[in-house]
Order: sequence, then C-alpha cells, then structure tokens
Amino acid sequence: MKNKIQGISDALTHLKATSADEIEALRIKYLSKKGLVSDLFNDFRNVPNEEKKEIGQLLNDLKNKAQDKINELKEAFDNAGSDEQKNDLTRTADPIALGTRHPLSLTKNEIIGIFSRIGFTVAEGPEIEDDWHVFGALNFPPEHPARDMQDTFFIEKNPDILLRTHTSSVQSRVMTSQKPPIRMLFPGRVYRNEAISYRAHCFFHQVEGLYIDKNVSFVDLKQSLLYFAKEMFGEGTKIRLRPSYFPFTEPSAEMDISCNICGGEGCPFCKHTGWVEILGCGMVDPNVLRNCGIDPGEYSGFAFGMGVERITNLKYQVKDLRMFSENDVRFLDQFTSAY
Ligand code: PHE
Repeated sequence: MKNKIQGISDALTHLKATSADEIEALRIKYLSKKGLVSDLFNDFRNVPNEEKKEIGQLLNDLKNKAQDKINELKEAFDNAGSDEQKNDLTRTADPIALGTRHPLSLTKNEIIGIFSRIGFTVAEGPEIEDDWHVFGALNFPPEHPARDMQDTFFIEKNPDILLRTHTSSVQSRVMTSQKPPIRMLFPGRVYRNEAISYRAHCFFHQVEGLYIDKNVSFVDLKQSLLYFAKEMFGEGTKIRLRPSYFPFTEPSAEMDISCNICGGEGCPFCKHTGWVEILGCGMVDPNVLRNCGIDPGEYSGFAFGMGVERITNLKYQVKDLRMFSENDVRFLDQFTSAY
C-alpha cells in the first residue's frame, strides 16, 4: 500500500499537460470516483488496524497533492500564451473618470467670458481687508450700518481688519494703483455675518465690474449690462433698471431681468412679478474717484456687482444655497460644460 501511494505521488510530481483536454483527462485518471486515488481509498478497508492511522494520513496527503497539481496545471495553462493572445489590445483604455467644474466656477467663467468679449480683463484682491478699502474709500460714512458687527466679520477684535463684505474693495485697490482707462472684472468670495439657511450663507461669491475712462456715461452702463443679460440668459431677455442707493455710486440702480424661468409670465421664483433682480450698479461717485487719486473732472466711470450664486440659481435652478458648499458629488456630477 505504501509503495503504491509513493508511486502515484512520484508520478504526480512530474505530471505535465499541454491542453485543457489533457488536464481534464488527468483529473479523471487521479481524482474521479474510479480514479487511482479513489481506488486506494477503497483498499483502505483492508489495511490492518495498527497501520490505519499512518496510511490514512498518507492517503489524505496524496489526495491533496493530486488536487493541488491539477489546479496548478490549470492555472499555468490559463496564463500561457503571448500578451496578444491574453489581452485584447483593441479594447479602449480604462475610462478615466473626469471631474466636473463646480457650478459656481462655471457661472463665474461664463460671466468673465462674456465681458472679456467687450474688453474687460480680470483682477483679484484679498479676502482679508482693511476698513479703508472695503468702506472708507468707497464713501461709506463712519456710522454706516454695513460696518455694523451684524454684517461684517472683524478679525482679532481689530475693527480695522475684516473679511470683505463685497468685491467693491478691489475697485479701491485697482483705482489707487492704476491709471485710467480701467476696464476690469473682480471675481471673488465675500463674507457676511448671516444665519445660514437655504437662501443665505455667511460666504458667497460676487463678480464686480469697473469701467473708468473719459466720457463714460450711464448709456454705456446700460448697454453693457443689456449685452451681458442677452448673452447670459438668451437673446429675448429684457432688462429694467430701478433707482437704488449705494454709497459708492451716484446715481445707483438695481437691475432686473425678465424671469428666465417663466419667461416673464410670473412664477414662484420671480414672486409672480415676471422680473428677478440680478445686480447692483451705478456711476462711480466722484468722491470715490477722488479718494483713489483719480480726477473726477477728467474721468467718469460705471461699476456693477452681481452675486454668482444668484445667477447660477437662475441658470440651473438650484433650490438650496447650501448645496454649493457641501461638495456632494451627486450634485456636482450633474454639471458639465465647455467653460
Ligand atoms: N457692492 C454692492 C453689493 O455688494 C454691489 C455693487 C457693486 C453696486 C458696484 C454698485 C456698484 O451689494
């Protein structure tokens, strides 16, 4: 019995096969019910009791060895062949999952694209600012409520250092450091001390526009903004300007566009008025020009500022402002664009 086991074991060690059929034949020869290993198990009945333990062990080892050998042959056979036979070289490469741009970036880039076609370039300024650039230079009187603790985040208890509440602060920086003509956009993040809800956040984004040159008039402002509205929301878009007030512009206006969700018919988004407000604007106040070292006798200009979230909501109808800062990929994945 022991000799038989040894003989089969040796044969197993040198087993070879070159096809799947041969491997199957070997499996039948050794491991099937009528195979060599099973035969030995049948003979096991005749083994004297005192040898049963030892022979039993050898038989189990033999069975495992046969099983392992067959598996080994199968594996070697599966991996055989040239690279071309194994791999389908005509298959396209692994699809690489591309990210998408954030919806606020899409909108910001689209705004910049539209104004760049009429000669606007882009500049940025710091988010941590001083009082002068955010308020003082822009003609805010010292007691103006925008400075109030409820609106503005001040830093380290120093009332002179704060998080900018609007991108108009970049106006003051550019006007003090550059000579007209100036035709620029200032995109960026701004901060206000607001309770966070679906329609307000303590930070949001604005794009500011500034145009200073000789003989710039309100007509230039209106025409530039009409051009923007049509490019952004479609040729049929109408605008209207309502008188308003900002310390840094005179006269000032707020601009509405015909609601692009209902087409001006009236819907919940436009509160059934057919119009939605999208930006503040006006002629740069002569005091502001003077504060920044530009002669208001020689130059005039217009400025406007719009909320990027607001424009994005109009374009994509995002119902909850908080979605923009949660970075949920199920939300972000829905945005693709050339911008
Ligand atoms: N800074 C104003 C705001 O944040 C917007 C504005 C910009 C208005 C430029 C007029 C001119 O509401």
